[in-house]
Amino acid sequence: MFFSPFLAIGLAPLLASAAPSWSVGPTTDYATKASNKVCSILDYGGKADGKTDIGSAISSAWDECKEGGVVYIPSGEYALESWVRLTGGKSTAMRMDGTIYRTGSDGGNMIFIEHTSDFELFSSNSKGAIQGYGYEFHKDGSLSGPRLLRLYDVSDFSVHDLILVDAPAFHFSLDTCSNGEVYNMAIRGGDSGGLDGIDVWSNDIWIHDVEVTNKDECVTVKSPSKSILVENIYCNWSGGCAMGSLSTDVDISDITYRNIYTWKSNQMYMIKSNGGSGSVSDVVLENFIGHGNAYSLDIDQAWSSMSTVDGDGVQLNNISISNWKGTAENGAQRGPIKVNCAPGAPCTDVTIEDFAMWTEEGDSETYICNSAYGSGACLKEESGDTTSYSTTVTVTTAPTGYSAATMAGDLSTAFGTDSEIPIPTIPTSFYPGATPFSALAAKASSA
Ligand SMILES: *[C@@H]1O[C@H](CO)[C@@H](O)[C@H](O)[C@H]1NC(C)=O
Ligand SMILES: *[C@@H]1O[C@H](CO)[C@@H](O)[C@H](O)[C@H]1NC(C)=O
Repeated sequence: MFFSPFLAIGLAPLLASAAPSWSVGPTTDYATKASNKVCSILDYGGKADGKTDIGSAISSAWDECKEGGVVYIPSGEYALESWVRLTGGKSTAMRMDGTIYRTGSDGGNMIFIEHTSDFELFSSNSKGAIQGYGYEFHKDGSLSGPRLLRLYDVSDFSVHDLILVDAPAFHFSLDTCSNGEVYNMAIRGGDSGGLDGIDVWSNDIWIHDVEVTNKDECVTVKSPSKSILVENIYCNWSGGCAMGSLSTDVDISDITYRNIYTWKSNQMYMIKSNGGSGSVSDVVLENFIGHGNAYSLDIDQAWSSMSTVDGDGVQLNNISISNWKGTAENGAQRGPIKVNCAPGAPCTDVTIEDFAMWTEEGDSETYICNSAYGSGACLKEESGDTTSYSTTVTVTTAPTGYSAATMAGDLSTAFGTDSEIPIPTIPTSFYPGATPFSALAAKASSA
């Protein structure tokens, strides 16, 4: 396919219209659940006074409504001091229109939902938020507080229109879930590692129209995972999107990231491991725009921030990278293409095409390919035998068509780690020129 820099922007909405080929979301709609039964936490001892712990009110409402009803947290300000673990049930929704402020300090997960199906967690006014006040831990250098939200063994579900702010640890994990859709979310954390946005290791998941601000994982796939589509993501001063860290018996396949905008992050996309075993196959990384990032494409199978694990390396096969535009912070220091595969497990069938990134500083940049086979950039063509090799190419002319759009909301300074982080609103644009797949719930319900 041919792209000029100007055409690419105009085409983005067309390129964006691709829902996954598998089914996602709850199988029963909200109205049906609501007409069956609604359990407001205010009827179970909850108070919207910002002081009373609503932990037991949520648990009681869940127990009463988890078979086909709705757990309702009306608008208002709430305190959560004791974490909730909501288990079982079927065909339930949790409508969270208020703001929950963390007042407890245990580790673990503030809201943990497990072993349920046909489930929807959302806010109908697009204002439902969890404020984790992570800075209270981070200002003393601690990351020992709770994560905000975790789903484990949940199938046929959606999570949408929620705002997650300043997690003491991670913001949102999807562990061993299936057929899920996550969309229209704003996640805003401190400017530090260890504060991941979304981590997913699951099957048949569609994550789209999400903004993440933090300084660690934006939207990251872990092992094992199969069939995950990630689209229209705004990594706004983040760590950037990634896969990993990958260790032993890795089993990841059919992963697509499309329309990923990355600003001031550690990287635009990283696949990270150091030793290990197993495989990653059938990966598509297309339509990426980046500005001000340290690394751009960064496949590193000798990642020095991870201690070496046993094994020759994770086998990467059929990895397709296309239509990347924009600029890297310093392309001579950290080149926009780094495909550093393990000599003991060379990467195969890697393609890099329509890749036009230039450096913001200086007038040259590097492409590094080590033990990587396929076509494009500095990759070696496969010819039956895949022995290890190392190549560094220095590029001294800006690639044609590297200039790319920016997003209006790009932050000029980070939120730091030692003061309160304001609760944002959910944006309505996550990638230049791409329209979100669904209107915000607030808009849809008032329409
Ligand atoms: C490579 O991966 C793509 C994307 O998942 C898939 O459509 C294609 O069939 C794969 N190619 C091979 C040879 O398996
Ligand atoms: C990133 O983008 C939004 C707009 O989409 C902007 O309002 C905001 O200040 C930026 N940063 C954060 C942390 O949301």
